[in-house]
Amino acid sequence: GSNTMWGGRFATGPDALMQAINASIDFDKRLAAEDIAASRAHAAMLGATGIVSDTDVAAIREGLLTVLSEIEAGDFVFSRELEDIHMNVESRLRELIGTAAGRLHTARSRNDQVATDFRLWVRGQCDAAIDGLTELMRALLAQAEAGADMVMPGFTHLQVAQPVTWGHHMLAYVEMLDRDRGRFRDARARMNESPLGAAALAGTSFPIDRETTAQALGFDRPMANSLDAVSDRDFALEFLSAAAITATHLSRFAEELVIWSTAQFRFVSLSDRFSTGSSIMPQKKNPDAAELIRAKPGRINGALVALLTVMKGLPLAYSKDMQEDKEQVFDAADSLMIALAAMAGMASDVVPQAERMHAAAAAGFSTATDLADWLVRRLGLPFREAHHVTGALVKRAEAKGVDLHELTLGEMQSEHPGITREVYDVLGVENSVASRMSYGGTAPEQVRAQAARWRAALA
Ligand code: ARG
Repeated sequence: GSNTMWGGRFATGPDALMQAINASIDFDKRLAAEDIAASRAHAAMLGATGIVSDTDVAAIREGLLTVLSEIEAGDFVFSRELEDIHMNVESRLRELIGTAAGRLHTARSRNDQVATDFRLWVRGQCDAAIDGLTELMRALLAQAEAGADMVMPGFTHLQVAQPVTWGHHMLAYVEMLDRDRGRFRDARARMNESPLGAAALAGTSFPIDRETTAQALGFDRPMANSLDAVSDRDFALEFLSAAAITATHLSRFAEELVIWSTAQFRFVSLSDRFSTGSSIMPQKKNPDAAELIRAKPGRINGALVALLTVMKGLPLAYSKDMQEDKEQVFDAADSLMIALAAMAGMASDVVPQAERMHAAAAAGFSTATDLADWLVRRLGLPFREAHHVTGALVKRAEAKGVDLHELTLGEMQSEHPGITREVYDVLGVENSVASRMSYGGTAPEQVRAQAARWRAALA
């Protein structure tokens, strides 16, 4: 038979293939709660404006609650014939309350309906992302506080560069993740306008009140242009962009954990909770969770590019192309939330290996810059010349197979006669990090001050 929702002008129902390509219920049932909330707000407004009688509105609003509880209980039978969540809900409402259900769709279209539902859903995910980020930031902050003066090598090009502290490294991620929170907050604020009442595309001739429905759904205001309201998905794109950037940050930390937990580095030991063994190699402890987090940008970036590509070149207003928005966003949101939660767990469990990191920081001539700075400060050498002298000393130490502090004073002086015994003070990694007192630098005193600021901010 033809469709009860739009079958008036149709003689036959759709081909099975049409149903297969068209139906979105398998995924958009995730919008059920938002759909019902929006419908209840719309119904209340139809009553308040006198467009639909109070009796019908009461039956509709009550019936919608029943539908919601059926869905939540898992008793609801979703039908592909009814295409999407909107028609599934409305059809069940009709079974429950009869013809009054048909009045719910007055002054509304599935176009503003889906735009509203999806905005509500994505808004909720912005909040969830902010919460997940905050949890992770707290775990990293605890690491930073415990390891404010734990020396580790800082790297550039993954080559030992200068000593830093574990706390400093952890707080670097706290800063990144805080900007991620800011992006979700900004996106949330921008998307928090209501499309409801835009109807199909042009608005409606009924005397609706869009302020009221906007307010009831927690939106700041109704969207000002009905064409824009039903046809843009930039809010979803902003969510995906923020998610992609966050996932990028997570993947960098994940990669560091993977590297640091190798036998070659042994900078950290990962907890059993977030590792797996091998079925053939008994000695193995693999950082699977970190690897999966490292991989998530594959999906999340994919979702961003997919939706950008769906939206590109679409003429206004609604086209069915836009139904392809949801699976991408759902998958990206799921990926992001699990990555955030798993990373928070790993970050609180990870145990830094202070001795190993200290030894690695001391090796690899990591205090060469301190030596060059000393030559500038104490002997008045121009930095370029100091760099040259230090380079020669590194070359000597390398040839001898020792570290800088193991060169004799005589060897030092043969590269520059002005060098004194005092130079050995700056060659220790503790002295090196303690001297990096500039604002934002790695000196434990600086790190502790930054950690205290974060402790207050995250309280
Ligand atoms: N399932 C549709 C979607 O997700 C709902 C909107 C349908 N609108 C329409 N005119 N067919 O986009």
